[in-house]
Amino acid sequence: MKPLRLGVLGSGQGSNVVALAEAIRHGEVPAEVVLGASDLKDAGILLHARERKLPVHVCRQGAFRTKLEPGIERELAGALASAGVDLVVLAGYMRVLKEPLLKKFPGRILNIHPSLLPSFPGLRAWEQALKARVAQTGCTVHWVNETVDGGAVIRQAKVPVNGGDTAESLHARIQEAEHRLLPEVIRDLAIGKIPWPEDPRKDGGR
Ligand code: GRF
Repeated sequence: MKPLRLGVLGSGQGSNVVALAEAIRHGEVPAEVVLGASDLKDAGILLHARERKLPVHVCRQGAFRTKLEPGIERELAGALASAGVDLVVLAGYMRVLKEPLLKKFPGRILNIHPSLLPSFPGLRAWEQALKARVAQTGCTVHWVNETVDGGAVIRQAKVPVNGGDTAESLHARIQEAEHRLLPEVIRDLAIGKIPWPEDPRKDGGR
Protein backbone atom coordinates (compact mmCIF):
# COMPACT_ATOMS: atom_id res chain seq x y z
CA MET A 1 0.00 0.00 0.00
CA LYS A 2 1.22 3.50 -0.87
CA PRO A 3 2.25 5.64 2.13
CA LEU A 4 -0.42 8.05 3.24
CA ARG A 5 0.30 11.60 2.10
CA LEU A 6 -0.23 14.02 4.99
CA GLY A 7 -0.77 17.76 5.05
CA VAL A 8 -0.23 19.07 8.57
CA LEU A 9 -1.78 22.36 9.71
CA GLY A 10 -0.97 24.18 12.92
CA SER A 11 -0.77 27.59 14.53
CA GLY A 12 1.37 26.66 17.53
CA GLN A 13 4.71 25.27 18.60
CA GLY A 14 4.44 22.12 16.49
CA SER A 15 5.32 19.42 19.01
CA ASN A 16 2.75 17.04 17.51
CA VAL A 17 4.25 17.48 14.07
CA VAL A 18 7.68 16.63 15.46
CA ALA A 19 6.30 13.50 17.18
CA LEU A 20 4.58 12.46 13.97
CA ALA A 21 7.64 13.12 11.80
CA GLU A 22 9.80 11.10 14.21
CA ALA A 23 7.36 8.17 14.23
CA ILE A 24 7.39 8.22 10.42
CA ARG A 25 11.21 8.38 10.36
CA HIS A 26 11.41 5.34 12.63
CA GLY A 27 9.19 3.38 10.26
CA GLU A 28 6.28 3.23 12.72
CA VAL A 29 3.77 5.01 10.48
CA PRO A 30 3.51 4.29 6.73
CA ALA A 31 3.01 7.94 5.80
CA GLU A 32 4.88 11.01 4.67
CA VAL A 33 4.32 14.67 5.45
CA VAL A 34 4.08 16.34 2.05
CA LEU A 35 3.10 19.81 3.28
CA GLY A 36 3.32 21.77 6.53
CA ALA A 37 0.98 24.75 6.64
CA SER A 38 0.11 27.54 9.03
CA ASP A 39 -2.03 30.63 9.28
CA LEU A 40 0.79 32.33 11.26
CA LYS A 41 4.13 33.04 9.67
CA ASP A 42 6.06 32.61 12.95
CA ALA A 43 4.43 29.34 14.00
CA GLY A 44 6.81 26.72 15.38
CA ILE A 45 5.27 24.14 13.11
CA LEU A 46 6.77 25.95 10.10
CA LEU A 47 10.23 26.01 11.70
CA HIS A 48 10.08 22.26 12.30
CA ALA A 49 8.80 21.61 8.79
CA ARG A 50 11.57 23.73 7.24
CA GLU A 51 14.21 22.02 9.40
CA ARG A 52 13.00 18.73 7.95
CA LYS A 53 13.10 20.20 4.42
CA LEU A 54 9.36 19.75 4.01
CA PRO A 55 7.42 22.05 1.68
CA VAL A 56 5.45 24.71 3.57
CA HIS A 57 2.48 26.93 2.87
CA VAL A 58 1.93 30.14 4.84
CA CYS A 59 -1.54 31.65 4.59
CA ARG A 60 -1.88 35.30 3.69
CA GLN A 61 -3.01 37.42 6.62
CA GLY A 62 -6.71 38.22 6.62
CA ALA A 63 -9.22 40.24 8.61
CA PHE A 64 -10.60 37.55 10.96
CA ARG A 65 -9.05 35.80 13.95
CA THR A 66 -11.31 32.76 14.27
CA LYS A 67 -11.53 31.72 10.61
CA LEU A 68 -9.75 32.31 7.31
CA GLU A 69 -11.30 34.51 4.69
CA PRO A 70 -12.83 32.27 1.99
CA GLY A 71 -10.23 33.26 -0.63
CA ILE A 72 -7.35 32.52 1.74
CA GLU A 73 -8.88 29.19 2.76
CA ARG A 74 -9.33 28.33 -0.94
CA GLU A 75 -5.61 28.96 -1.52
CA LEU A 76 -4.77 26.69 1.41
CA ALA A 77 -7.09 23.96 0.12
CA GLY A 78 -5.48 24.34 -3.31
CA ALA A 79 -1.96 24.02 -1.88
CA LEU A 80 -2.97 20.83 -0.02
CA ALA A 81 -4.61 19.40 -3.13
CA SER A 82 -1.60 20.28 -5.35
CA ALA A 83 0.66 18.48 -2.88
CA GLY A 84 -1.50 15.37 -3.37
CA VAL A 85 -2.57 15.23 0.27
CA ASP A 86 -4.68 12.18 1.26
CA LEU A 87 -5.28 13.24 4.86
CA VAL A 88 -5.26 16.69 6.46
CA VAL A 89 -4.05 16.66 10.07
CA LEU A 90 -4.94 19.60 12.31
CA ALA A 91 -2.40 19.81 15.12
CA GLY A 92 -3.07 22.97 17.06
CA TYR A 93 -4.71 24.77 14.14
CA MET A 94 -6.64 27.56 15.82
CA ARG A 95 -9.27 28.52 13.23
CA VAL A 96 -12.63 26.98 12.47
CA LEU A 97 -12.66 25.25 9.08
CA LYS A 98 -15.14 26.43 6.50
CA GLU A 99 -16.44 25.19 3.19
CA PRO A 100 -13.32 25.54 1.00
CA LEU A 101 -11.36 22.98 3.04
CA LEU A 102 -14.28 20.83 4.19
CA LYS A 103 -15.53 20.44 0.62
CA LYS A 104 -12.13 19.71 -0.88
CA PHE A 105 -11.32 17.03 1.72
CA PRO A 106 -14.63 15.48 2.78
CA GLY A 107 -14.12 12.91 5.54
CA ARG A 108 -10.36 13.36 5.27
CA ILE A 109 -9.55 15.95 7.93
CA LEU A 110 -8.77 15.02 11.52
CA ASN A 111 -7.91 17.03 14.61
CA ILE A 112 -6.21 16.34 17.91
CA HIS A 113 -7.81 17.98 20.95
CA PRO A 114 -6.50 18.03 24.55
CA SER A 115 -9.53 16.59 26.38
CA LEU A 116 -11.83 13.58 26.32
CA LEU A 117 -14.45 15.02 23.98
CA PRO A 118 -17.32 15.76 24.22
CA SER A 119 -16.04 17.16 27.54
CA PHE A 120 -14.20 20.47 27.35
CA PRO A 121 -14.29 21.53 23.71
CA GLY A 122 -12.73 24.86 22.77
CA LEU A 123 -9.75 26.69 24.16
CA ARG A 124 -7.40 25.66 27.02
CA ALA A 125 -9.23 22.38 27.61
CA TRP A 126 -6.76 21.27 30.30
CA GLU A 127 -7.62 24.36 32.38
CA GLN A 128 -11.32 23.59 31.94
CA ALA A 129 -10.65 20.05 33.23
CA LEU A 130 -8.72 21.32 36.28
CA LYS A 131 -11.48 23.79 37.08
CA ALA A 132 -14.13 21.08 36.82
CA ARG A 133 -12.07 18.90 39.24
CA VAL A 134 -12.40 15.78 37.12
CA ALA A 135 -10.30 12.74 38.11
CA GLN A 136 -9.18 12.13 34.55
CA THR A 137 -8.95 13.93 31.28
CA GLY A 138 -6.96 13.10 28.16
CA CYS A 139 -6.89 13.70 24.44
CA THR A 140 -9.05 12.88 21.44
CA VAL A 141 -8.44 12.42 17.74
CA HIS A 142 -11.64 13.13 15.82
CA TRP A 143 -12.91 13.78 12.31
CA VAL A 144 -13.45 17.45 11.57
CA ASN A 145 -16.71 19.04 10.49
CA GLU A 146 -18.03 22.61 10.61
CA THR A 147 -18.48 22.52 14.40
CA VAL A 148 -15.82 23.33 17.01
CA ASP A 149 -14.39 19.99 18.22
CA GLY A 150 -17.72 18.30 17.44
CA GLY A 151 -16.90 15.69 14.75
CA ALA A 152 -17.00 11.91 15.28
CA VAL A 153 -14.42 10.62 17.75
CA ILE A 154 -11.82 8.27 16.25
CA ARG A 155 -9.81 7.35 19.37
CA GLN A 156 -9.01 8.75 22.82
CA ALA A 157 -6.26 8.38 25.43
CA LYS A 158 -6.89 8.96 29.14
CA VAL A 159 -4.65 11.00 31.42
CA PRO A 160 -5.22 11.06 35.20
CA VAL A 161 -5.44 14.44 36.93
CA ASN A 162 -3.09 14.42 39.94
CA GLY A 163 -3.71 16.25 43.23
CA GLY A 164 -0.79 18.64 42.76
CA ASP A 165 -1.37 19.33 39.09
CA THR A 166 -1.02 22.84 37.75
CA ALA A 167 -2.33 23.84 34.35
CA GLU A 168 1.22 23.47 33.02
CA SER A 169 1.94 20.02 34.48
CA LEU A 170 -1.40 18.64 33.32
CA HIS A 171 -1.00 20.11 29.84
CA ALA A 172 2.49 18.61 29.58
CA ARG A 173 1.18 15.11 30.43
CA ILE A 174 -1.69 15.48 27.97
CA GLN A 175 0.79 16.46 25.28
CA GLU A 176 2.87 13.33 25.98
CA ALA A 177 -0.28 11.29 25.43
CA GLU A 178 -1.02 13.25 22.23
CA HIS A 179 2.43 12.50 20.88
CA ARG A 180 1.64 8.76 21.15
CA LEU A 181 -2.03 8.89 20.09
CA LEU A 182 -1.76 10.92 16.88
CA PRO A 183 0.89 8.74 15.18
CA GLU A 184 -0.98 5.60 16.30
CA VAL A 185 -4.25 6.77 14.75
CA ILE A 186 -2.55 7.76 11.50
CA ARG A 187 -0.78 4.38 11.36
CA ASP A 188 -4.08 2.57 11.89
CA LEU A 189 -5.80 4.64 9.21
CA ALA A 190 -2.89 3.95 6.84
CA ILE A 191 -3.06 0.18 7.37
CA GLY A 192 -6.86 0.08 7.26
CA LYS A 193 -7.33 -0.82 10.93
CA ILE A 194 -9.47 2.29 11.40
CA PRO A 195 -12.18 2.74 8.76
CA TRP A 196 -12.30 5.91 6.69
CA PRO A 197 -15.45 7.73 5.73
CA GLU A 198 -13.83 7.68 2.27
CA ASP A 199 -10.33 6.25 1.60
CA PRO A 200 -8.63 8.47 -0.99
CA ARG A 201 -6.07 5.81 -1.97
CA LYS A 202 -8.65 3.45 -3.41
CA ASP A 203 -9.09 3.53 -7.22
CA GLY A 204 -5.57 4.90 -7.70
CA GLY A 205 -5.92 7.94 -5.44
CA ARG A 206 -6.62 11.51 -6.49
C1 GRF B 1 -2.27 20.38 21.20
O1 GRF B 1 -2.39 20.34 22.59
C2 GRF B 1 -3.57 20.01 20.52
O2 GRF B 1 -4.32 19.13 21.26
C3 GRF B 1 -4.27 21.33 20.42
O3 GRF B 1 -3.24 22.26 20.18
C4 GRF B 1 -2.03 21.80 20.72
C5 GRF B 1 -0.95 21.87 19.67
O4 GRF B 1 0.29 21.64 20.20
N1 GRF B 1 -5.31 21.28 19.42
P1 GRF B 1 1.58 21.60 19.28
O5 GRF B 1 1.59 22.87 18.46
O6 GRF B 1 1.48 20.37 18.42
O7 GRF B 1 2.72 21.52 20.23
